[in-house]
Amino acid sequence: MTPARSVHVFDDSDALSRAAADEIEREAIAATAARLQFMFVLSGGSTPGRLFEHLAAHRRDRIPWRDTQIFWADERFVPPDHLDSNFAMAEAKLLTHVPIPPSHIHRIPTESTSPTTSALEYETTLHGCFPDADSPAFDVVLLGLGDDGHTASLFPGQGSDGDKWVESVIGPPYRPPRERITLTLRALNGAETVIFLVTGKEKHRALRAMLDDPDGHSDVPATHIRPRGKTLWLVDREAFDGS
Ligand code: 6PG
Repeated sequence: MTPARSVHVFDDSDALSRAAADEIEREAIAATAARLQFMFVLSGGSTPGRLFEHLAAHRRDRIPWRDTQIFWADERFVPPDHLDSNFAMAEAKLLTHVPIPPSHIHRIPTESTSPTTSALEYETTLHGCFPDADSPAFDVVLLGLGDDGHTASLFPGQGSDGDKWVESVIGPPYRPPRERITLTLRALNGAETVIFLVTGKEKHRALRAMLDDPDGHSDVPATHIRPRGKTLWLVDREAFDGS
């Protein structure tokens, strides 16, 4: 059965961020009621910045942050205070503004000697958080979409199969930094809910390819995202209409 997928179009990124925050709030409350914790994966890139600011400003007291565990879908192999660091952006816009215990923030380590070592270290971290599991049971995974159809740091033409939950990749020259660590399809698809956040007319072609290929026949990585529960596409009008 094709998992539940729905597309929601918003006039601007503020409206999109509010809707995303509503969904995250609902899922966080349900997860902590059922399992006393909310396993939340943040996406990288620039798109989620507005959402992070909204969560920090308007959901500080509505989401059970003390029971939330934070992970990343991918990271660039740069220091955690680097301008290109996905962690640095989330820390500045969200994590320093909400009461998440530091031990609940599972940053992808990038101080190690190589991206491969970082990937192995993060895989160990995830297995520690999800012992004896075939894949990490994240409650919500945020993902972005590149204009080439990549998501996390899974790029077209780069396989992501096997049992690994984390892998190191060399991204394409057109999307630096090239050395990256990324969750694999197995790890991403173990999630209950995936929320794609897509804004800007430069994403129109990739988004169209996504929506026209629900069964993932192409080599566009984002078409192979199929979580256990539902996939929400939260997109702005520019990305949806291309105008
Ligand atoms: C990354 C991201 C990547 C991102 C898309 C969209 O580390 O680059 O994880 O998958 O989500 O490239 O990026 P923008 O939001 O900057 O358009």
